[in-house]
Amino acid sequence: METITLNNGVQMPMLGFGTWTVRGKKGEHILREALDVGYRLFDTAFLYGNHEIVGKAIRDSGIPRNNIFITTKLDRQFASYTKAKAGIAQAQETLQSDIIDLMLIHEPYAESLEMYQALEEAYREGTLRAIGISNFNANLYQKLLNHCAITPAVNQVENHVYYMQTDLQKVMEPYGTVMQAWGPLTEGKRPIFTDPILQDIAKAHDRPVAQIALRYLVQNGIPVIPKSSHRTRMQQNIDIFSFSLSPDEMATISLRDEGQSLFNWFGPDWI
Ligand SMILES: NC(=O)c1ccc[n+]([C@@H]2O[C@H](COP(=O)([O-])OP(=O)(O)OC[C@H]3O[C@@H](n4cnc5c(N)ncnc54)[C@H](OP(=O)(O)O)[C@@H]3O)[C@@H](O)[C@H]2O)c1
Repeated sequence: METITLNNGVQMPMLGFGTWTVRGKKGEHILREALDVGYRLFDTAFLYGNHEIVGKAIRDSGIPRNNIFITTKLDRQFASYTKAKAGIAQAQETLQSDIIDLMLIHEPYAESLEMYQALEEAYREGTLRAIGISNFNANLYQKLLNHCAITPAVNQVENHVYYMQTDLQKVMEPYGTVMQAWGPLTEGKRPIFTDPILQDIAKAHDRPVAQIALRYLVQNGIPVIPKSSHRTRMQQNIDIFSFSLSPDEMATISLRDEGQSLFNWFGPDWI
């Protein structure tokens, strides 16, 4: 698995497994499959209600913990300094992991700065290996930069061929904040798998469209966390490091970018 070096030196896999909607007994089975297929980064959140099964699947797999990267996120229920501190402790307990690889603020809240201060303290104590944010636009990112002591390692945002957020990526680049893609396959909002441009390129490589869509992001330096509940699709999605897209293909796909969110899901502006 290729990795990307975060701005504090930590290595993060370029591809991980999204766990939104992965719950219950079926979820346990899906997580076992994902580990078996070779996924080593798991993206979860308190909002997903699956910390326990993610932690259990990782522990039961017998794979050394330091070979796995766990990302989780603090949401509104932890929106204060004290609540964020409690959230970090709760994540350690529910994920059955003393150390969490990456913790993000799930979206901008009025209390983001004090929440981030709690993350910084846990980072300094060694509980969190890296810290960051999610769904922060360029303005809110800049505002956080003006107030924080530790530059976010990651900003996880909506990102796919139709919404590349290149401007945001450019703003964060000088600070080494990595833009990580959620919804890299559009979460079903678009019929991406029958997109004629992607289909043509997929045909030329004799590969599924999903691989073209994910490879395009990775080749632009954007780590991805696709989710699938099907083993064959998990296998497809992870197999994107043994081929590359030509400069012409990259340029053609870049024309699919509409510069518009498919979700219009922005956190409240805390300014
Ligand atoms: N930070 C945030 O605010 C935020 C927001 C949303 C999501 N996320 C994270 O990002 C992860 C990924 O996003 P997502 O789950 O929303 O959407 P996604 O990964 O873009 O798309 C998942 C959908 O695509 C289907 N799919 C996956 N691989 C496929 C393939 N090879 N061929 C055909 N269909 C395929 C899946 O169906 P099947 O499962 O039936 O295969 C599922 O319906 C989430 O799971 C979560 O961890 C974060």
